[in-house]
Amino acid sequence: MIRLENVAKTYQTPAGPYQALAPVSLEVREGDVYGIIGYSGAGKSTLLRIMNLLERPTAGRVFVEGKDLTALSPRALREARHAIGMIFQHFHLFSNRTVAENVEFALEIAKAEKGDREKRVRELLEWVGLEDKADSYPSQLSGGQKQRVAIARALANRPRILLCDEPTSALDPRTTQSILSLIRDINQTWKVTVVIVTHEMDVVKQLCHKAAVLENGHLVEELPIRHARTAPASALGKLLFQEAPERLYPTEVLNG
Ligand SMILES: Nc1ncnc2c1ncn2[C@@H]1O[C@H](COP(=O)(O)OP(=O)(O)OP(=O)(O)O)[C@@H](O)[C@H]1O
Ligand SMILES: [Mg+2]
Repeated sequence: MIRLENVAKTYQTPAGPYQALAPVSLEVREGDVYGIIGYSGAGKSTLLRIMNLLERPTAGRVFVEGKDLTALSPRALREARHAIGMIFQHFHLFSNRTVAENVEFALEIAKAEKGDREKRVRELLEWVGLEDKADSYPSQLSGGQKQRVAIARALANRPRILLCDEPTSALDPRTTQSILSLIRDINQTWKVTVVIVTHEMDVVKQLCHKAAVLENGHLVEELPIRHARTAPASALGKLLFQEAPERLYPTEVLNG
């Protein structure tokens, strides 16, 4: 479970302090897929990165499975982070490492034994359907394949939580579907709690149990998705529940 207590983030910029996130409190239940939606600049990535303290909040506390991450020593924080995997829109693979070496990296960081590492890498690559690409370099892969490598790497240490920042935004619709079904599998098969930032309404509808709507750094509402369809109050919430197919990828709508 993830619990944010009044987390806020103010960035210091040359133009002065900028509040990217007003105090936000929320809870992500264990086993849920939790969406975060909002316009560009709403603070989605900031909020997500606070969940594993890639971004340290300027106020508030971050509890992951009961532990307050903001109170941990750097070393204890590194340990705690092994329980939290993360993937990104642009994959963030190491271009000078092979596919297998990219996945193995996460295991090296966690100080796994060499023999165990190799076995685990094979297992993971098989699971994401890339066993034949073990010795390829990222530049030799398609976008969807790169994201699969990133997912294998994120899962290497058997995290209980997977944070996803726009994981399908750089992919075409068909590849998007295959990545979404992989993420759904991860959630259902391994009971990994998933938090996913997206501006694609379709992603939220297909995958999430619940979604937070962010506007200008404020959490304006939380919507249950697969459960009772309460009438959304915010404009984005309303958009989310519109059925018109042309609105399912409203990038241009969302980005103004
Ligand atoms: N390191 C930083 N320094 C200063 N301002 C920042 C920094 N990171 C983000 N911001 C600002 O904080 C606000 C929220 O940024 P964030 O990246 O969280 O938005 P987002 O909702 O993820 O947007 P997008 O959909 O474009 O990815 C933006 O106005 C952004 O310019
Ligand atoms: Mg972002």
